[in-house]
Amino acid sequence: MKGIVLAGGTGSRLFPLTKITNKHLLPIFDKPMIYYPIETLVEAGIRDLLIVTGGRNSGDFLRLLANGKEFGLKHINYTYQEGEGGIAEALALAEHFAEGSKICVILGDNIIEGSIAQAVRDFEHQDRGAKILLKKVHDAERFGVAEIQGDRIIGIEEKPTRPRSDYAVTGIYMYDETVFDKTKSLKPSARGELEITDVNNAYISEGTMTFNYLEGWWTDAGTFDSLLRAANLVHETRRRKDPTLAPVLSGADTE
Ligand code: G1P
Repeated sequence: MKGIVLAGGTGSRLFPLTKITNKHLLPIFDKPMIYYPIETLVEAGIRDLLIVTGGRNSGDFLRLLANGKEFGLKHINYTYQEGEGGIAEALALAEHFAEGSKICVILGDNIIEGSIAQAVRDFEHQDRGAKILLKKVHDAERFGVAEIQGDRIIGIEEKPTRPRSDYAVTGIYMYDETVFDKTKSLKPSARGELEITDVNNAYISEGTMTFNYLEGWWTDAGTFDSLLRAANLVHETRRRKDPTLAPVLSGADTE
């Protein structure tokens, strides 16, 4: 399976942090944000990666990641998204790279504690269609939300005011080669973007969407709160393994 990291966009919700750099280059504890999704794919055994980026700072990705030696890779592919057409538009740019193979797409601001290796193996054995990873959250209205009936997803709503479940659709998606035909028939949403949720709903209508629940914590990092939360989660997880790391705040700090 090939891997695609989507790292374009203006990061407008993080302005002015993103005034002079790309959101995915901002720090999450001790590494730039984009390191985490790359590590997630590599840990799952995916070695052939494409980074889709954009904006004025796209050259910095090449300087930062080069050929991926730090991740044990021999080579990384890059492509450039002009404009701000949304996640599904960024994905459409990966058609030439996918060359008919299955793909695992991860949003560059999605950070997880655990592994997606099992889900990737499951999808390798799935005949056709797509697979998404769900996570129970307390603020589902911020995300794509899955409506589940038995062992099937019957629909996804993008940022609903009244979510039909607590299950957010994480930014980790696995698709067969038909995804590129699906992106071609999309129409822009109210926010003027081609929505990944519409791609996923196309698979749901076809009856070929499967899902796994994601183990361990998950966060995006596209808002001030979630950026801070991401750093704290990474720090706490690291501290469990390395007790010499100090807690972020002690009671005395806030007195
Ligand atoms: C995007 C997707 C949403 C998904 C989320 C995960 O939201 O549109 O369905 O739940 O990523 O991070 P955005 O970050 O573009 O608001």
